[in-house]
Order: sequence, then C-alpha cells, then structure tokens
Amino acid sequence: MRIDIVSVFPEYFNVLDLSLLGKAQDKGLVEFGIHNLRDWTHDVHHSVDDTPVGGGAGMVMKPEVWAQCLDDLLGIEPLESIEQADAATGRDSSAVLVFPNPSAPTFTQKDATELSHAKHLIFGCGRYEGYDGRLPAYYAAQGYDVREYSIGDYVLNGGEVAVSVMVEATTRLIDGFMGNHASIEEESYTGSEGLLEHRQYTKPATWRGMSVPEVLLSGHHANIDRFRRDEELRRTSALRPDIIEALDCSRLDKKDRKLLTELGWIVNGDHPRSKIGR
Ligand code: ADE
Repeated sequence: MRIDIVSVFPEYFNVLDLSLLGKAQDKGLVEFGIHNLRDWTHDVHHSVDDTPVGGGAGMVMKPEVWAQCLDDLLGIEPLESIEQADAATGRDSSAVLVFPNPSAPTFTQKDATELSHAKHLIFGCGRYEGYDGRLPAYYAAQGYDVREYSIGDYVLNGGEVAVSVMVEATTRLIDGFMGNHASIEEESYTGSEGLLEHRQYTKPATWRGMSVPEVLLSGHHANIDRFRRDEELRRTSALRPDIIEALDCSRLDKKDRKLLTELGWIVNGDHPRSKIGR
C-alpha cells in the first residue's frame, strides 16, 4: 500500500519509522510519502491559509494550494471548473482521499478495515479552521473515493494526530503486518461481533495478593472460552450498551441469552433491548 500524507508539519510523521510500522516498511508492505503543503505555495510567505469568507475567527486553508498538491500526488492535470470535474468521473479509483475533520462521522474499526484494502491512501491534514469546504466535493466529483472522518468528539490543533491514529489503525490490518493474525481477530471491535475484549492476565498467578480467575488455570478450554465470553458480555453491557443493542439475537447461544437476561436485557427480538429502556 502507498500512503501519502500532506501536512504543514511533516516532522509529526517521523514516528512512522518506529516499531511495527517501521518493520512493515522494511518488508515492503507499506510505503510512505510525507509532503510539506508549503512546497506547493508560490508566494514569498509560503502562505497556505486566508481569512474565512463571511467573517469569523481563525483562518481557512486555501483550496488552490491543496488542489495543486493533490493533483500532483494523483498524477492528474488541474481542471478549470466543477463542470469539468463532473465530466472527469471515473479517474484512477484506486486512490482514496482522507481528510480528518472534527465535524465529520467518527472513524471506526469498520472504516479502518475498508481503508486497509485500498492500494493508495492520501491523507490531507488540515490546520487552523480547516480546509476550504469545496475541496472534498471537487475530488468526489471526479470520481475519487473521498472520506472525511473525526477521531472523536473533541477538537485537536490540527489533523496530524488524527491521521496518525487512522494510519496506525488501518495499516495493522494489512495482510502480513501482524505476526499473529488471530490476535487481530480476537480484539475488541473486530472479533466476537464487536464485543469489548475480556481482560488478559499473565504470570504470576498471584501478584500482591491478587489471584487471576481460577478457571484460567484449569486447562479446560471450553470453560475458559465460556468464562471469557461471559466477561465480554458483562463488560460490554456495562460500558457500551450501544454495542449490545446492535447484536444479532439469532447469533446468541443459550448461555449468552441467560446472562444477558440476568444483566437486564430482553433477548427475544432481532436485537437485545434494555428492560429499563435507555
Ligand atoms: N482535527 C481537529 N480535531 C479533530 C478530530 N477530533 N478528528 C479529526 N480531525 C480533527
């Protein structure tokens, strides 16, 4: 996979050479291009932003600087108008353009999985009050897969940290990235229909007076699996009832249903419902 990242602070992305992502680059699984947006400016101040039309605080990133940069990364000629962009549908569809934006849908594991199948990702990091609102529409009109994501309900100083999060969540799903694929499948949000993962323990069996759950020492795999499944249902019910509500009741076994009923769920319809309502 090729990943291009555009930012006015390209040094933010030096971390990509560390740890598993560094190894993935060595193995040729992923190749990064880190670009400074100011390289596409033509004025002496290398300015990338301007005041918002209509007034208001802060600065907005100029569409022409971004478009020159993105056209270069996509290897396309600039177009004169949105009409031309509309007519140019079906351009190289292997590139996905991703813009972090606090006012966008939340990035989830499902999005990471989708992005992990792309051949070419281009991330554009906004700063200040963000990028000109015409930019995503301009590339979507040309047939590109353009996505805007927030990484959570809080505002960061810019998109760099959000892009680091999305890149890490995405690249670790590329085939061959993780030594042990099972560990990805067992994780929260991916395995077990999205239930939160059970807690994990290692040796010693007793530490500072606290013992690991006895069943985990039994060697009885069926009991261990059941114990872990129950833990996941309990944790998810307490911490993320929205995930329980999305479960498919037909995929719950008898013991799942019994436990969920004890935890205050009605499990006879398509999806569990809370007895007390939410
Ligand atoms: N830019 C600023 N805050 C952000 C957020 N929460 N998610 C994505 N991009 C952002």
